[in-house]
Amino acid sequence: MDRTVTTRIDQERCTGCGLCVEVCPSDTITMKGKKASVTGTESLNCGHCAAVCPSGAVKVTGLDPTLSTFKTFEARESWLPHGQGSIQDLVHIMQSRRSCRNFQTEKPVEKDLLEDLIKIGVSAPSGSNCQLWSFTILSHREAVLRLAKMVGGFFQRLNRTAEKGWLRKILRLIGKPELEVYYREYYRRVREGLEEWENQGTDILFHGAPAAIVVGSKRQAACPAEDALLASQNILLGAHGLGLGTCLIGFAIEAMRRDKSILRRLGMPDDERAYAVIALGYPNEKYRRVAGRKQALVRYFE
Ligand SMILES: Cc1cc2nc3c(=O)[nH]c(=O)nc-3n(C[C@H](O)[C@H](O)[C@H](O)COP(=O)(O)O)c2cc1C
Ligand code: SF4
Repeated sequence: MDRTVTTRIDQERCTGCGLCVEVCPSDTITMKGKKASVTGTESLNCGHCAAVCPSGAVKVTGLDPTLSTFKTFEARESWLPHGQGSIQDLVHIMQSRRSCRNFQTEKPVEKDLLEDLIKIGVSAPSGSNCQLWSFTILSHREAVLRLAKMVGGFFQRLNRTAEKGWLRKILRLIGKPELEVYYREYYRRVREGLEEWENQGTDILFHGAPAAIVVGSKRQAACPAEDALLASQNILLGAHGLGLGTCLIGFAIEAMRRDKSILRRLGMPDDERAYAVIALGYPNEKYRRVAGRKQALVRYFE
């Protein structure tokens, strides 16, 4: 993990308040005399020191200075204190985001929007702040269809394998029941979907989405799955706010997990794994109200 120290302190501006030392999670900064000084050999590069300094004396040069500049809307750079944001607006977006399964296929998604969504994505937390996520943008329908074909091809092959009853039986007997489970739970649905796709041209996989983002992580990340999925949730919510519909495509993830050649064809190197495929586009659907959820399993440990 890269822990290079990129913290710089302007000694002229530093008033010696000590706030940056207090907030630093990796002991990168200490007080030397009446001024803060970079003495540590490692840094999380989290930028808490720069964010807390009242005199703007701290810079963390390893951070992308453009991340708060969006192309499609103006973001506020000031920090919002705890309890002061509109929880009503936040929950309204969360509950209004629904999986979109009817996209305006002919209406492309502007690249500026897609790039802004990545910036929204990376404001998520990440294990050890390693931020070793990756975002592969499929910016037009043809690219989405090429991925859909790869995924469809994988499921055609899987269904042909699952049809072999003797193979399912042998695998079950040697303690590998996965093919049997797949046959029982998914085989028929996948076969019907593939037939519908072939005969009627219905895009059962990406629901006609004109764009997609594959969210991955480097294997060496501290928490690769969590990082990628937290960034993905940010993207889903941000997309709703920007007028776009989204749908997570778990079937595509399953195919990429089992057939690494799909990742390679997308340009993802062998040290990356995909955790979310987000279909994106302008929605062809509207709802009248938010819907509920099932009762959650909640317990107290006291
Ligand atoms: C990991 C994961 C995989 C999913 N895969 C698919 C998928 O392949 N196709 C699809 O139409 N929806 C997929 N969904 C969407 C879920 O069906 C959806 O989130 C759920 O029904 C709740 O509805 P909502 O998202 O509209 O609130 C997936 C969701 C998750 C979290
Ligand atoms: S927060 Fe800023 S002013 Fe305070 S000690 Fe650190 S660098 Fe100096």
